[in-house]
Amino acid sequence: MPLDQAHAIRDARLAELHPQLDAALRGRTRLTLEVGCGHGHFLTAYAKSRPEELCMGIDLLEDRLARAGRKSKAAGLSNVLWIHAEASLLLQALPPHVRLGPSIFVLFPDPWPKRRHWKHRVIQPAFLSMLAERAEPGTQLCFRTDYAPYFTEASAVIIGHAAWRVDVADTWPFEEPTVFQSRAESYQSITARRR
Ligand SMILES: C[S@@+](CC[C@H](N)C(=O)[O-])C[C@H]1O[C@@H](n2cnc3c(N)ncnc32)[C@H](O)[C@@H]1O
Repeated sequence: MPLDQAHAIRDARLAELHPQLDAALRGRTRLTLEVGCGHGHFLTAYAKSRPEELCMGIDLLEDRLARAGRKSKAAGLSNVLWIHAEASLLLQALPPHVRLGPSIFVLFPDPWPKRRHWKHRVIQPAFLSMLAERAEPGTQLCFRTDYAPYFTEASAVIIGHAAWRVDVADTWPFEEPTVFQSRAESYQSITARRR
């Protein structure tokens, strides 16, 4: 796709997201975010256990979000939002008064095993910088994957990023298997705190 066409699509999506987020987040200052929430198993259970937090699950696939919406509605939850958005665009469109915290989850993201596709992996230094810009001090970033090479690479990126501090004594804040977790033979996790 030519660059100007890609930029036009991005700008159009941002123009849709800005008013949607302004309306959804009016009067709210703090948000727990799950990037690539899929069918919403994890975040629905998390939101139920943390009624005092506002939670937002984002994904590229609308059918997965629709399923997530049905799940949280059936659970009677009013503290979880499902937004159809790409992660970087979401962060660009987030109203300036809204901070990310106390948690950010990236669970079983697409592993993109082929080297030429690594640029599509969500954990990248620039993305961690964008998250850090919007996160409160102390916000916990929680990453989990069943693809060992991605875990190795993502851990190096997180540990090497100046805005995030890994504390091996830190614990995973909440357990509920995602769809991909329930299919995985094993997985690895890392957490970090916004400095
Ligand atoms: C492998 S699935 C995992 C879904 C869920 N976290 C789980 O563990 O069951 C990865 C999800 O991330 C979404 N995704 C991939 N890249 C994304 C991005 N840049 N922004 C938002 N969602 C993304 C995909 O559409 C997909 O639903």
